[in-house]
Amino acid sequence: MYDISLPSPGFGTFRLKGDTVKHALTHALNAGFNHVDTAQIYENEQDVGEAISEHTRKRGDIFITTKVWFDNFEKSAFIPSVEESLTKLKTDYVDLLLIHWPSPDGKVPMSEYLPELVSCMHKGLTRGIGVSNFTPELLEQAFSVIGEDTISVNQIEVHPLFQNRDTVNYCQRKGIAVVGYMPVANGKVMENDVLKAIAKEHQTTPASIAIAWQHQLGVVPIPSSTNEEHIQANLDAIKIRLTPEQMSKIEKIDTGKRLIDPDFAPDW
Ligand SMILES: NC(=O)c1ccc[n+]([C@@H]2O[C@H](COP(=O)([O-])OP(=O)(O)OC[C@H]3O[C@@H](n4cnc5c(N)ncnc54)[C@H](OP(=O)(O)O)[C@@H]3O)[C@@H](O)[C@H]2O)c1
Repeated sequence: MYDISLPSPGFGTFRLKGDTVKHALTHALNAGFNHVDTAQIYENEQDVGEAISEHTRKRGDIFITTKVWFDNFEKSAFIPSVEESLTKLKTDYVDLLLIHWPSPDGKVPMSEYLPELVSCMHKGLTRGIGVSNFTPELLEQAFSVIGEDTISVNQIEVHPLFQNRDTVNYCQRKGIAVVGYMPVANGKVMENDVLKAIAKEHQTTPASIAIAWQHQLGVVPIPSSTNEEHIQANLDAIKIRLTPEQMSKIEKIDTGKRLIDPDFAPDW
């Protein structure tokens, strides 16, 4: 397995497009973020590519993840779609290429699209490969197609209100790095009383506590923000150390309810 060494935290870009994402990402890179998360379906790879190529920081200092959308899973479309992503991102390679969601209802079999993902790594289009929104059962199926030592990352929903423990624990046992999406639950953590109380103890905000909690569990948070103060706070949050008591209080606020559960989601 490629040793992925993911910089933490990363900068999420879902819902951000055009000048909005360019400004936010430029500010994030200035502040010290060195990991950016995009996807074909976000329709912002071009903007992300422009922000990175126009920045004074070198390409090699910035870790880029993109994700292949399931419309591109057929053998004839997979690699051309990744080449198009690279053109938009203005780079010869990404650091991490993910399968964004498993193929809905298994329409395209894993035996068709996962070998294409591996080929992208062998061709040098990406340094590492992984998946997103895969359950332990789906990971087992993936192992049977491309082996246990190929998938470096599973990107899944993780935040204090949806802790996704079974999948996090499974991945960590298998040596698969977990990237946690929606680390601040799209702002919802700000209203939680337990997080508010812990934030008060650290003189910070519930958002920072949520990011610190994730980081302390060994999950890589990828918060998104267009607000300069939030961007800085999200970067600084991983320096906060939560006590075992604070960690166990947060463990108890898991609602078990996902925020992201589209109709094409797998049988969780
Ligand atoms: N693989 C997948 O299927 C998948 C699914 C969803 C997301 N993702 C990835 O995960 C990233 C993060 O998820 P997300 O963007 O949906 O949700 P998120 O990062 O949990 O939340 C973003 C929202 O929270 C606010 N926020 C951020 N930092 C804050 C802070 N310090 N204090 C208060 N509010 C704050 C932002 O507003 P402001 O702009 O005002 O700060 C924004 O409205 C995405 O951008 C994407 O890259 C992946």
